[in-house]
Amino acid sequence: MNILLIGSGGREHALAWKMAQSPLVDVVHCAPGNPGMDAVGPCFDVAADDIDGLVKLALQIEPDLVVIGPEAPLALGLSDILRARGFDVFGPSKEAAQLEASKAFSKARMTKYGVPTAAYGEFTEAAPAKTFLRKMRAPYVLKADGLAAGKGVVIAETLEEADSEIDEMLSGKFGDASATLVIEEFMHGEEASVFVITDGEGAIFLPAAQDHKRVGDGDTGPNTGGMGAYAPAPVVSEEIMSRVKCEIAAPMLKGMAKDGMPYQGVLYIGIMVTAEGPKVVEFNARFGDPECQVLMKGLKGDIVPAILVAATGGLKGNEEAFEALLELEDFQPAATVVLAAKGYPGSYEKGTVIEGVKQAGALEGVTVFHAGTDVADGGKLIAKGGRVLNVTASGATLREAVDRAYAGVDAINWPEGFCRRDIGWRAL
Ligand SMILES: Nc1ncnc2c1ncn2[C@@H]1O[C@H](COP(=O)(O)OP(=O)(O)O)[C@@H](O)[C@H]1O
Ligand SMILES: [Mg+2]
Repeated sequence: MNILLIGSGGREHALAWKMAQSPLVDVVHCAPGNPGMDAVGPCFDVAADDIDGLVKLALQIEPDLVVIGPEAPLALGLSDILRARGFDVFGPSKEAAQLEASKAFSKARMTKYGVPTAAYGEFTEAAPAKTFLRKMRAPYVLKADGLAAGKGVVIAETLEEADSEIDEMLSGKFGDASATLVIEEFMHGEEASVFVITDGEGAIFLPAAQDHKRVGDGDTGPNTGGMGAYAPAPVVSEEIMSRVKCEIAAPMLKGMAKDGMPYQGVLYIGIMVTAEGPKVVEFNARFGDPECQVLMKGLKGDIVPAILVAATGGLKGNEEAFEALLELEDFQPAATVVLAAKGYPGSYEKGTVIEGVKQAGALEGVTVFHAGTDVADGGKLIAKGGRVLNVTASGATLREAVDRAYAGVDAINWPEGFCRRDIGWRAL
């Protein structure tokens, strides 16, 4: 079969790399892709948020399956448009994708379905928001309702700070995305990410992963898109995982289906493991980046049957067969280290030359996924984004996976890049 994969990050390179290994797959077409994905299948220069362009491309390629990597096209309704044209699509409808695209929508669903999460209020005016704030305890969690590229959440230590953040957000700090505000109770605990592949009824749970949001070692400095990840994450014990299944995933999927917006694709459940058990921090409507990279690297079996059944239906009651094809039992511990441009998440230089990626990828257990790379005239690999490469490795143990990933990092020669040196520390 032929697949059309939408996106251009490390997540999509990992998906393309994994899907291309399936005996079911002939070609993975990518749009827009990146230099790493170029080596997997043909890339087409159509942006991930160019809905008309992507529909045109799909009509031209006629893929058997479209896999949507990032959130932007989901929030713009690409799945619905392609499904209406008869394509099989891995990715939720625009309505269901609001679980990510609107934090207020997502909180309202959780409340309706009785899913454990932080207490909250939803506001469009500053005065009632500030009154609500005074009933909460510090620190104060303020969230822009809409998509804000991972920058829409502010945790304020004092009332003054929170008040001025409320004013800024409601007066357009994040444009329309912060026209509505969610204020939440602060949850204490350790975070993890659980991924559910679903056709809206059945569910396959992948091993839990943990990412590293802060830019600096020891979880210090500003937030980023993610500086590394590993799986499985031991904080999600068997007991916690079974509570996530029963108390979170099952009621969410059932409720969404009952309310006429079945969720199809991968549901990312961001949890806080609190003293009372797992509670939802947020949902995302797609794989996490960089968590996807470690999941694809650690999975020994075939991902394509699971993705296909999520797109076409028929998973319920057949979960075990798909889990066996994924070889979930034999998942190998995996870790990924993000190489970023110095200065990230602030301003950074573009166009600097990177060498040694091939050598790193030739090391045992190591695969280097591209995220923000480009090829300059003359064929040299250069950096064009903040997060540039994901040096990913699997091993018999997490220790071995991490050591292999850092051996890969050390084989790469990019003086203008940096990485965290402590990926996996919570588990190790
Ligand atoms: N209620 C909460 N209690 C404690 N920390 C929170 C809470 N909500 C969010 N956070 C922290 O803020 C981060 C970002 O919030 P999240 O809801 O995941 O939004 P986004 O990923 O869209 O920026 C979380 O990963 C978590 O560290
Ligand atoms: Mg998040």
